[in-house]
Amino acid sequence: MATMVSLIGLVNNIQRACTVLGDHGGEGLSLWEALPTVAVVGGQSSGKSSVLESVVGRDFLPRGSGIVTRRPLVLQLHKIEGQSEYAEFLHAPRKKFTDFASVRKEIQDETDRITGKTKQISNIPIHLSIYSPNVVNLTLIDLPGLTKVAVEGQPDSIVEDIENMVRSYVEKPNCIILAISPANQDIATSDAIKLAREVDPSGERTFGVLTKLDLMDKGTNALDVIEGRSYRLQHPWVGIVNRSQADINKNVDMIHARKKEQEYFETSPEYGHLAHKMGSEYLAKLLSKHLETVIRQRIPSIIALINKTIDELNAELDRIGRPIAVDSGAQLYTILEMCRAFDKVFREHLD
Ligand code: GDP
Ligand code: NA
Ligand code: MG
Repeated sequence: MATMVSLIGLVNNIQRACTVLGDHGGEGLSLWEALPTVAVVGGQSSGKSSVLESVVGRDFLPRGSGIVTRRPLVLQLHKIEGQSEYAEFLHAPRKKFTDFASVRKEIQDETDRITGKTKQISNIPIHLSIYSPNVVNLTLIDLPGLTKVAVEGQPDSIVEDIENMVRSYVEKPNCIILAISPANQDIATSDAIKLAREVDPSGERTFGVLTKLDLMDKGTNALDVIEGRSYRLQHPWVGIVNRSQADINKNVDMIHARKKEQEYFETSPEYGHLAHKMGSEYLAKLLSKHLETVIRQRIPSIIALINKTIDELNAELDRIGRPIAVDSGAQLYTILEMCRAFDKVFREHLD
C-alpha cells in the first residue's frame, strides 16, 4: 500500500516539475502526456466544484456566476493521520494554509495574476496540495466549465477557447475523464458526455458522474443512466447528491453534507440497492484505486519517457549549477530523487 500511495505522489511531483519547466501538456516536453491524470469535465453549473469539494471534505473553490475556473487546478490530495489539515500551493511553497477561505482567495488571486482581471483563460495550471485525514490519495485536475455563451466582459472566443483547453486534456490517451452531468437535464444533452463520447468512444477511460439526483422531477428517477442503459461506459456510473445552493448559503459543513448524501442513498426507494456504490466518498475511493492501478501499469512507459527527458533536465540543472547523481539500478527512486531535487531547486529558482 505504501508503494502505491507514493506512486500517485511521484507522478504529481513530476507534473509539478513539468509545470515549472514550462510543460503544460502542450508543445515541447511531453511528459505530461505520459502521466495518467484525472480531469474533471462538465458544463457550467453541472456540479463540478461541488463534487471536488465533497471529495476533499472542504469548501475551498472560488464561486460565482460566469466562468470562475479560468486556469487548470491540479489538486493533489494526501491522506494524513490526525486533524492537522492544511493546504500548500506550488507557487507559494513556504506558506501553509490552514484556513480554507484563504485557499479560495489564493486561487482567485493566482488566477488573476496570470489572466489579469480580463476573464480570459490560461492553460498554465495552479498546483494545490491538500493534506487531510478526510481525503484519499488522489490527484484531480479541475478545468473550466464548458459553456455555450460568453458573458459580459468575456471575449466571444472564450467558448471555443475553453472547449479547446478541455479537449487538449481529455484527448490524451492517459487522461481519465471524470464526466459530470446533472440528473435534472437529459443525458443526451450533457456537454461532458458529448465530449467524452468524442474522445473516448468505447468509454474505457470515462467515469460518468450524475449529480443533482435530488433535483429530479417527482416520479422520475435516473436508474436508466446509473445502470448504464442510457449511455454505456466500461466503468460504473456514480450518482451524487451535493449541497444545494440553500445548503451552501447556510454554510452546511462538507463532512455533514457527505453524511446526508449517504443517508439519501441508503433510504432511497429507487437507489437503496446501489447505496454502497453511490456518493462522493465512494467516487473518491473508486478513482484513487483506478489511478493507482493505471499508474502501476504505465510505470515502464513513464520511466522510458522520463529517461528521454533526463538529458534535458540535466542540462537545465547544469545551467542552474547543481549536479545530480543518476543511479540506473533504482530507476523509480532515481526519478523520485530527481523530482525532489527538481522540486527543491526550482522552488529556490522561483523565489
Ligand atoms: P459547477 O459550475 O459545475 O462548478 O457547479 P457547482 O458545483 O458550482 O454547482 C452549481 C449549483 O448547483 C450550486 O448552487 C450547487 O449548490 C448546486 N448543486 C450542485 N450539485 C447539486 C446537487 O447534487 N444537488 C443540489 N440540490 N444542488 C446541487
Ligand atoms: Na452539462
Ligand atoms: Mg465551478
